[in-house]
Amino acid sequence: MKRDRRKFHIHTFGCQMNQADSGIIATLLQNEGYEPATSEDEAGIILLNTCAVRENAVERIGHYLQHVKGFKRKHPELIVGLAGCIAQYRREALFGDFPVLDFLAGPDNYRDIASLVAEASGGCRVSRLDFDATETYEGILQSRVEPLTSFVPVMRGCNNMCAFCVVPFTRGRERSHPFGSVLREVRELGLGGCREITLLGQNVNSYCDPQSGADFPQLLEAVCREAPGVRIRFTTSHPKDMSPSLVDAMASQPDICQHLHLPVQSGSSRMLERMNRGHGILSYLEKIRLIRQRIPGIAISTDLIAGFCGESESDHRQTLELMREVRFDSAFMFHYSPRPGTLAARTMPDDVSEEDKKRRLQEIIDLQNTISGELLREAVGTVVEVLAESESRRSAAQLMGRTSTNRVVVFDRGSFQPGDLVRVLITGSTSATLSGKTV
Ligand code: SAM
Ligand code: SF4
Ligand code: F3S
Repeated sequence: MKRDRRKFHIHTFGCQMNQADSGIIATLLQNEGYEPATSEDEAGIILLNTCAVRENAVERIGHYLQHVKGFKRKHPELIVGLAGCIAQYRREALFGDFPVLDFLAGPDNYRDIASLVAEASGGCRVSRLDFDATETYEGILQSRVEPLTSFVPVMRGCNNMCAFCVVPFTRGRERSHPFGSVLREVRELGLGGCREITLLGQNVNSYCDPQSGADFPQLLEAVCREAPGVRIRFTTSHPKDMSPSLVDAMASQPDICQHLHLPVQSGSSRMLERMNRGHGILSYLEKIRLIRQRIPGIAISTDLIAGFCGESESDHRQTLELMREVRFDSAFMFHYSPRPGTLAARTMPDDVSEEDKKRRLQEIIDLQNTISGELLREAVGTVVEVLAESESRRSAAQLMGRTSTNRVVVFDRGSFQPGDLVRVLITGSTSATLSGKTV
């Protein structure tokens, strides 16, 4: 197939923020006359939007670029760009590691991508990797493929400096999007038929409108007013900044989903201090108690890291104990991988053996699977409200959707369509999904 030099294909790795950014890049390229390709084989421009958060994320890019190298051998005019967190983190060294790359763009430099493509087409290898602490891409609406559920970033960057984390080095200083522009985007999405919006930021609880100083709970309430009837989710909440007023906003607004993602990382206060998380386990448990008291039935999920520098067996057991006490609905679980430049990589020996890291992670995963399975079994026999998102992967006769508590439910569709809110009687469960029939 012939490649069209005006058509682009973006391959997105990493978090929801990167998915939203890929939509912004697509809009910026379309504003300059480029078009999305229908397949990777047709594209004259291939762009990887990348994640640097763990070592294996970086390895995945290497594998993917091997595959792109094959394309470029057949079509030397193909332009290959690398955007996002790895570009910012590894900078021009990437040109040495991956000769297939033509250009690099950091997370604050997406307005320059069209000119980078033009320069690269002229035969230069080019990069733009400057931080811009004012860039929020205000006024650029993401090009979206999924009409029913949307991500809306409300802030960029992070000021927290957790010892293990590369994000402050890849995304720069924290900045909040103007209140008015978030509300405009949310209103347009609601009018356009969107049924669920997830507000995004690395630490949404430190949102602060640059003009009025309004905080995140105020933003949440305003978002609910702008898009009535649209489900609202948000991520990520840092436990140290989770305030009683956020709990009040969640308890008083019926459109805010009954789910809170509250990453704890470890069950040991000693580890949390080494990680520079800014809170201990007692205050975490206190927040969980408050939120469960105010919003009974809320689902709480978390992130956990196994084998951070200096973690002893006793620290690890405290993580397992915390999991048994809180009974998280679900968790993203990782073993620690040092990221060069972070406080931990600079000052703390990576002294937990690979074998122990993997074993501890497996124990964490096994326990979480047991807890998630038990919680889902307890849901059998109840009636839940599900927002139908799409046909299920197995059969067009079934729909897949989520509860407000973010549980995945598969059910026989009857006459329902994606976008409908459906009442479903839960009749079965696995460790990750519920199944049922409409009532
Ligand atoms: N801003 C969010 C917060 O504060 O919880 C987290 C964002 S980070 C992109 C997502 C998750 O990746 C973290 O919560 C942590 O569990 C994990 N993570 C980050 N750095 C890591 C590392 N060096 N090794 C293993 N996991 C890591
Ligand atoms: Fe990374 Fe911590 Fe910022 Fe989350 S809050 S992005 S873990 S530095
Ligand atoms: Fe990865 Fe960057 Fe997101 S490092 S997790 S893509 S902010």
